[in-house]
Amino acid sequence: MIEAEFWDYDSREDMAAEVAGDIGFIIESAIDARGESLVAFPGGSTPAPIFAHLAQKQLPWKRVTIIPGDDRLVPVDNELSNIRAIAQAMISTGARIYPIAVEAEDYTMAGHAADARLRDLKWPPDLVWLGMGTDGHTASLFPGPDFEDAMDAPKARLAMGIRPDPMPPEAPVDRVSLTRAAILQARTILITITGQEKRDLLEQAIEDGQSSKLPIGRVLAESQIPIDIHWAP
Ligand code: 6PG
Repeated sequence: MIEAEFWDYDSREDMAAEVAGDIGFIIESAIDARGESLVAFPGGSTPAPIFAHLAQKQLPWKRVTIIPGDDRLVPVDNELSNIRAIAQAMISTGARIYPIAVEAEDYTMAGHAADARLRDLKWPPDLVWLGMGTDGHTASLFPGPDFEDAMDAPKARLAMGIRPDPMPPEAPVDRVSLTRAAILQARTILITITGQEKRDLLEQAIEDGQSSKLPIGRVLAESQIPIDIHWAP
């Protein structure tokens, strides 16, 4: 059974302030314990207000490395780029913003390149912060030809190239993503979702566990640590 705790807020603004506080605490605790912090942030639209609160916090940012938990295989100046969104929000802090998507022959090679780049970091991350789509994807773990490999990747395989099938209409491009194994090695996993539709979908995925048809259900079903889920209407 997936151990998940829901934290409900009256508004997205309330959630943004509280989640930014939680992430700041995770970062400070990591630096106290190990002198540095590695965190993985999601793409999409939900994180924006949380980034805004987080970037205002007085933290030892120079000791922090931020990676995208997944990214679209587009140029960094493309509005679909997750590292672009993270950099725009967080670069002023002085944290190291570390891309994982690099130019490659094809998305599979990009996945290998992303995996190699992550191996240059001190794994595991202190936090993997995830969002969820209304189709139940998380990070860029979408149904398609690469999905089962991303689910079954060994602990050592941190990232993979992903070709969603069907392509998500909001970002119909190939991606690189943390594998399930990479996500589940995190010291802390935090999910932020908004709206009743996503709430119902995530509750069902948690209930279904390993038999879930949703990527996020398959990921969380193998978690060895409790998951904090932050929700606002
Ligand atoms: C991505 C994201 C993705 C995101 C969800 C939710 O690159 O697509 O990492 O997993 O978290 O799609 O996005 P919203 O917050 O915009 O609903």
